[in-house]
Amino acid sequence: MPHNTPTVRAALASITARLRDAGVANPGLDARLILERALRCDTARLIASGNERLPGRVGDEVEAMVQQRAARIPLARIFGKKEFWGLDFALSSDALVPRPDSETLIEAALALCPDQGATPTRILDLGTGSGCLLVALLKEWPDAWGVGVDRSVNALSIARQNAETNGVAGRLALVVSDWGDAVSGAFDLIVSNPPYIMSHDIDGLEAEVAVHEPRAALDGGPDGLEAFRRIVAALPRLLSPSGEVMVEFGAGQEEAVRRIFEQSGDVVRKSHYRDLSGHPRCARFRRIPCAHDVHFSEKKLGMAGRSGYRLAN
Ligand SMILES: C[S@@+](CC[C@H](N)C(=O)[O-])C[C@H]1O[C@@H](n2cnc3c(N)ncnc32)[C@H](O)[C@@H]1O
Repeated sequence: MPHNTPTVRAALASITARLRDAGVANPGLDARLILERALRCDTARLIASGNERLPGRVGDEVEAMVQQRAARIPLARIFGKKEFWGLDFALSSDALVPRPDSETLIEAALALCPDQGATPTRILDLGTGSGCLLVALLKEWPDAWGVGVDRSVNALSIARQNAETNGVAGRLALVVSDWGDAVSGAFDLIVSNPPYIMSHDIDGLEAEVAVHEPRAALDGGPDGLEAFRRIVAALPRLLSPSGEVMVEFGAGQEEAVRRIFEQSGDVVRKSHYRDLSGHPRCARFRRIPCAHDVHFSEKKLGMAGRSGYRLAN
């Protein structure tokens, strides 16, 4: 064992200092996660080995990760994966890193059918990115199938990979589409975590987001609400008569999103849900039945549109 390597404790301290100097928000946590990854160990083991010398063989790997993190590349992108809803998701530069706050939407969707009674069978995910929302829902509901839509072909190929890794690829179609434009059929549940940041705010965000997340996943137009308007416009065509819609939104957008959806006259808000920090994060809307729905035939509700999708994989 080389004697010139620092102890694990000393390495932790020096990496923390380097990351702090680079402006990383939680330098101690990230330093620990980098060392745990290099040493293939958990936190308890890392702490227990504080007085041991860092094995020379991990030096290059640690240094490479520290340099990337100091350049403000998010840890998930350095590691190439992120856990969401207890599942592993691979990442690419074209797909947003799944956020813990987006698990609020999954919790809200599961609350629709306590005890797994009458779960939605047809799910549409608009702006699927890594596929995290759709894959998590399909994993929870084994009888459901889903369509994931994105404008980015490259995001859809990582969504495909994630569906395969998590064993739901046989129940999902991925479609290149400008929101709902290339989709047909009627869905019991439409979910979306659309881009909702105001265009002129993006450059002021932390570098991890502003520089390292795909702009198309962030930019919600001048007022941050453009995608919601597009999604609402597609609802009459894509939402089944008793269908539900769940959307994630950003800080301070709750009322504006509610107005956009309810002014359409197609849906009414049933509830909203808060994220782990207690901020409103997700809203649930339900379709208002209309005369047309009485004649909505089963044929139209079925899987007829499925074969027509342009698949991306
Ligand atoms: C905030 S990300 C959400 C990704 C993923 N659903 C999640 O929750 O992590 C928004 C996604 O919408 C996609 N998107 C942006 N504009 C779009 C459009 N016009 N049509 C379809 N998808 C779009 C982006 O490519 C991105 O993958």
